[in-house]
Amino acid sequence: MDIIFYHPALTVDNWLQAFKRAIPQARIRQWTKGDDAPADYALVWNPPVEVLRQRKGLKAVFVLGAGVDAILSKFQQYPDMLAQGVPLYRLEDTGMAQQMQEYAVSQVLHWFRRFDDYQLQKIAGQWQPLDEYRHEEFTVGLLGAGVLGGKVAESLTAWGFPVRCWSRSNKEYPGVSSYVGNEQLPAFLSGTRVLINLLPNTPQTAGIINQNLLNQLAEGAYVLNLARGAHLVESDLLAALDSGKIKGAMLDVFAKEPLPVDSPLWRHPRVAITPHIAAVSRPDEAATFIASTVARIEEGTVPAGEVSISRGY
Ligand code: NAP
Ligand code: GLV
Repeated sequence: MDIIFYHPALTVDNWLQAFKRAIPQARIRQWTKGDDAPADYALVWNPPVEVLRQRKGLKAVFVLGAGVDAILSKFQQYPDMLAQGVPLYRLEDTGMAQQMQEYAVSQVLHWFRRFDDYQLQKIAGQWQPLDEYRHEEFTVGLLGAGVLGGKVAESLTAWGFPVRCWSRSNKEYPGVSSYVGNEQLPAFLSGTRVLINLLPNTPQTAGIINQNLLNQLAEGAYVLNLARGAHLVESDLLAALDSGKIKGAMLDVFAKEPLPVDSPLWRHPRVAITPHIAAVSRPDEAATFIASTVARIEEGTVPAGEVSISRGY
């Protein structure tokens, strides 16, 4: 079995070693320019078109992350990049759900305990106990309730927050109210105090966090964007922050990454920023997941988790 690997940024050796441990029977090589030899599987992130186009023997492609928006937009640009019938898989959880839970729970608690206000008071040298927030007025709403959103929703119920989620199909996560489709979006937004975004970036979801959506949230709501920068209209968020409609935002992803130095988001006192690290792909967990999916393909069963290219996620 031959596997090619391409990632533009990772420490490649760690990944190659992890795959060698997980799939010892395979010959794994890093793709380099000019390599057009056959491969059974390709493990990639943002690959040049030549990594996949006309690759002989390809049984499946694995994206080394959760989001497939970048590779799907490349497929649109180069319609012959992936041969018809070759399935595309992505990483499902592989340790990312726990990272997202840690990020979301810590930030929701930060806002709930008013550490943002106390930080501003500290800068002003002010000693002033503030009114406590109550759990029942701190409804958390998850945009997107799939592999990651569902786990984040569950982790927040454990802290006593009312939790709701919005997705295309109904969900039955314990203690989480499910809202479905565009028709139920206004009801989902109404009363949501903390909005957490874990949607995939698709033509239907791009730009969804805009002025119209923000206006429907509770007064003084908070926004946590953990999915993609394309979901958020940054200028609308800044206007909503300045008007007080939105009290704070924490952003891990941006329309342009790295976030340009002249972006006003850097300087806004009510915006916190991390550099797209909410949940990273980890070699051993990813290799274990891919090894078990490859084993299922090899034995002729259909593994779960195939990306629907037409649906966009
Ligand atoms: P997923 O399992 O595919 O979940 C996507 C969720 O969004 C599903 O619940 C889906 O509904 C819902 N959805 C999709 N389109 C919708 C629409 N038009 N209207 C309403 N709901 C819609 O994806 P995941 O593994 O949880 O990952 C989510 C995203 O997180 C990724 O696409 C990626 O962009 C982002 N991410 C970011 C980082 C980071 O470090 N910042 C790390 C990993 C992932 P159904 O369940 O009904 O299909
Ligand atoms: C990271 O953003 C991912 O999609 O895995």
